[in-house]
Amino acid sequence: MNSLPLEGHSILFVGGKGGVGKSTTAASLAVHLADSGEKILLVSTDPAHSLGDLFETSVGDRKREIVPGLHALEIDPGQEVEKYLARVKSTMRHYVQPAMYSEIERQIELTRHSPGAEEAALMDRVTTLMQEGATSHDRIIFDTAPTGHTLRLLALPEIMAAWTTGLLKSRERSDSLGKAVDRLRGREQASGDELAWFDDVKEEVTDERTQKIQEVLLERQRRFSKARRLLLDPEITAFILVLIPEKLPILESEKTHAVLRQHKIPVAGLVVNRTLPENQVLGEFLESRRSQEAEYLEQIERVFSKLPRVRIPLLSRDVQGINALREIAQHLLIDK
Ligand SMILES: Nc1ncnc2c1ncn2[C@@H]1O[C@H](COP(=O)(O)OP(=O)(O)OP(=O)(O)O)[C@@H](O)[C@H]1O
Ligand SMILES: [Mg+2]
Repeated sequence: MNSLPLEGHSILFVGGKGGVGKSTTAASLAVHLADSGEKILLVSTDPAHSLGDLFETSVGDRKREIVPGLHALEIDPGQEVEKYLARVKSTMRHYVQPAMYSEIERQIELTRHSPGAEEAALMDRVTTLMQEGATSHDRIIFDTAPTGHTLRLLALPEIMAAWTTGLLKSRERSDSLGKAVDRLRGREQASGDELAWFDDVKEEVTDERTQKIQEVLLERQRRFSKARRLLLDPEITAFILVLIPEKLPILESEKTHAVLRQHKIPVAGLVVNRTLPENQVLGEFLESRRSQEAEYLEQIERVFSKLPRVRIPLLSRDVQGINALREIAQHLLIDK
């Protein structure tokens, strides 16, 4: 077994199948790094939060100091959607005619329950935190939801950037229509009625509102492409995959690893959690489990031979409290 090389990565994502120990790993990494003098921000993006349980204190939507140097927060996706919609509504009020307010608000309300609304709102917060975290902390660690969700989240900056670019293009087309109208007006002697029509069109497409919408879209596009750049920079971001030596978690980790590679998201290493303790007599039942585990551990070595791997033994009790997290960290053999 080797060590977990974190080599100055300032953004870490901890992911894996449900229940394998993602939150435990993320929290123990965070405590360990803070103990060694780093300023850490630990963020849970999982709707079923468990950082509060792990730290035996309540952790909410606002940054809270847990131990010196470690701040934690839990993003509440439902609440994020509400904040996000409220922001969109107030932005729209500046840019559309008052007569359109109620229709626009109705449309916005409809998106509240649309598929992807929570993810979009969550991603909005994650991109902001990624940038904030990089300046106010040495590292930001994301404790993520079970794999499928996280992977969609990671692909989202790309999708959102493409979407925003599409919208910007259609605004550019409107702008050039406005310019065409200008040219037409300069060159041709049109009748009064025609001129009035041109004025209407031009007002619709080139007024101040159009500019403002464009600015908002551009700002959003810049933020998403910055997040994407950070995400894909192997000097900055690393993904830590957590699994347990069992059939399904291994299969799922293989898939995740492939998707991460496909998106060119760097993987720092693998945490093999809950291995049966060595040098202990376990009795017939657990010895039988141990021989099955040995096969899976071998399979993990084979499948992930290129990834650094560390093991965390199964403890006699659930991991709870700062000291238990410090104990877990000893097994992570973190290489800063
Ligand atoms: N090495 C270990 N020894 C004993 N118990 C462990 C160990 N690792 C994790 N646990 C326990 O297993 C349970 C699940 O761990 P954890 O919450 O970290 O998993 P998770 O992957 O974050 O789960 P979820 O997918 O629900 O977010 C917890 O009760 C935790 O205390
Ligand atoms: Mg968790």
